[in-house]
Amino acid sequence: ALPAALALNAPDGFAAAFPRRKASSNKGTFGSVAIIGGDTGTCGAAILSARAALYCGAGRVHAALIGQGGPAYDPPHPEIMMRQVDAIALDTMDGLTIGPGLGKSAHAAQVLRDVLALALPTIIDADALNLIAADPDLAARVRAQGRHLVLTPHPGEAARLLGVTTRDIEADRIDAITRLVRTYACTVVLKGSGTLIAAPDGRFAINPTGNSGLATGGTGDVLSGVIGAFLAQHLAPFDAALAATWIHGRAAEELAIAGVGPAGLTAGELAPAMRALLNRL
Ligand code: APR
Ligand code: MG
Repeated sequence: ALPAALALNAPDGFAAAFPRRKASSNKGTFGSVAIIGGDTGTCGAAILSARAALYCGAGRVHAALIGQGGPAYDPPHPEIMMRQVDAIALDTMDGLTIGPGLGKSAHAAQVLRDVLALALPTIIDADALNLIAADPDLAARVRAQGRHLVLTPHPGEAARLLGVTTRDIEADRIDAITRLVRTYACTVVLKGSGTLIAAPDGRFAINPTGNSGLATGGTGDVLSGVIGAFLAQHLAPFDAALAATWIHGRAAEELAIAGVGPAGLTAGELAPAMRALLNRL
């Protein structure tokens, strides 16, 4: 049984979890993250995720694309180091995000297998979750590395991971996340209105922030980038998941006050709003 949910209305502890921005800090202090995804035709997901990581304080952000012939760089954000995944030394990263626009190719599955062998702090989203749901060997590798991992399924992905229907997930979300944590031995973020976060040691939270503006394509990709950035800044998996879901939802709330959403919020607009929040923590 899970203990009572933590109250998240006053996340006073968040700031202390981040590396101090000392005058003498350098980019190494804030970690390197690689966003792995972006198959041909779905590069946008990886770019949104990488931008979110950049705006959320990672020292260096790489976009590690699966597809050949993708963009060479992100014109408004040339800071993002964009390469084909096989040309990036993933083992030198402090945190990894895998999934945004990844697709389900054999190459994607092989990269996921390699990533799990690195035993680095990693957040696993989108098609990376679908690959795991379809392959018992990958699922076993996830369980073995669970203490380093965060899984961020939406209800449809959660259903595939548990071999049930989306309706089953939504009928009892607390039961669903409990079973996901038990099955995969990872920190899990079960997304949707009232996002749940749970860890194998029994910690559990319901995120109070967010609004219907987030019900638009790409917001999940943004969340995966923020979690990757926080893992790269050496937050523990549960703390990274908690802080990221809180700030992602709060950004949508603050934008709505300014008339940017809920209708017509674009996922990319969350990044500068999250940056402002992060600097006010
Ligand atoms: N209230 C609060 N938060 C919400 C709401 C809401 N009404 N609706 C959505 N959200 C939040 C979720 O909690 C999550 O953080 O928005 C995000 C949506 O994430 P995803 O469902 O992953 O959406 P998206 O990024 O568009 O996914 C893109 O990747 O996961 C695949 O199948 C998915 O093809 C889709 C693609
Ligand atoms: Mg998604």
